[in-house]
Amino acid sequence: MSASPRPSGTIWAIVAALLVAVMVAMLVLAGRAYMSSDDPGATVGTGVPSIGGPFTLVDHTGKTVTEKDFAGRWMMIYFGFTYCPDVCPTSLSSMADAMDMLNPEQAEKIVPVMISIDPERDTPEYLAEYVVNFHPSMIGLTGTVEQTAAAAKAYRVYFAKEGGSEAGDDYLMAHSSIVYLVDPQGRFHLHFAGVNIDGERIAERLRELL
Ligand code: NI
Repeated sequence: MSASPRPSGTIWAIVAALLVAVMVAMLVLAGRAYMSSDDPGATVGTGVPSIGGPFTLVDHTGKTVTEKDFAGRWMMIYFGFTYCPDVCPTSLSSMADAMDMLNPEQAEKIVPVMISIDPERDTPEYLAEYVVNFHPSMIGLTGTVEQTAAAAKAYRVYFAKEGGSEAGDDYLMAHSSIVYLVDPQGRFHLHFAGVNIDGERIAERLRELL
């Protein structure tokens, strides 16, 4: 049996050149499709990213609430979960500290709110016991998985269950740690992150706004 003739180097060179040409063409087409895409979700023109918006959640007394229930007061919102070992308690304590640094008239105009990103474990009953540890005026909000995810998405909050299915009910949630300030008309005003999540810093900003 004779061996089949080996293709010459020239043929390989042509095949390689054709492959490169096809790949380049695909990249160009993909680029055009991307640039001409009309994404309705894209932020265009204003330069101000849209953060926040309407929500429907369940408060720690079991009552369904929307952003309209808080109209007329500033909301100081933190997304977290009650099983969080350190980051959430630290941030919520800073919010509580800020509330205590204001005079009563100022404090009345602000509602500190914790929105759960772990609604499967954070029931209204559990939240009720939790938020009172931080501040008497703190409101805990939870809801269905869809409701809390929608609220988190509106505020561009990242969250994810850690450990996968092996963790069972004993899991942690990775999440953004940001305090959002929403004005009495329900519009996002500013946020605190990192070292700025500090009672004194927050209180200082709140005094300027009230
Ligand atoms: Ni946390």
